[in-house]
Amino acid sequence: MRRAACPGSFDPVTNGHIDIITRASGLFDEVVVAVGVNKSKNRLFSADERIDMLREACSGFDNVRVDGFQGLLTTFCQEQGIHAIVKGLRAVSDFDYELQMAQMNSSLTDVETVFVPTSPEYSFLASSLVKEVATFGGDVSGLVPGFVNERLTARLAELRAAGEG
Ligand code: PNS
Repeated sequence: MRRAACPGSFDPVTNGHIDIITRASGLFDEVVVAVGVNKSKNRLFSADERIDMLREACSGFDNVRVDGFQGLLTTFCQEQGIHAIVKGLRAVSDFDYELQMAQMNSSLTDVETVFVPTSPEYSFLASSLVKEVATFGGDVSGLVPGFVNERLTARLAELRAAGEG
């Protein structure tokens, strides 16, 4: 069984993430979308909300499941019998940091990182930009699944009502 992890924060999942997960599902027998739940970063969505949205986004794949992980990605990979990590590369600017992480991860355990070039139509796409554009009223409906757009709109409205947005 060739099993791979697609790790990330997914705050929230975008069409670019789904592109990489789709392609990983064609390359491996099983793909585990691994949602980092470390508490260090400020998130718009909780870990459970991010996992829920990914489960909905991935419901059409029969070889993809979604799980959260805390701590090191390599520990999660060891526990799950995963020997490959799939990462999307949007541009050269992603490469330095991704190479460093790939080398660190393979020095920690027996895991290879497989880089998949992001499809050109998603090369500018990042969750952080989606949140920023949506915060200022921009249309992100072509960048995230429809149900994610709805949850994003609702969350931003909640924050605005609470005086935090
Ligand atoms: O979507 P992101 O924020 O780029 O995802 C980054 C993530 C969660 C994949 C990365 O930060 C990670 O693997 N975190 C777990 C902690 C860890 O293993 N750190 C060592 C990396 S070499």
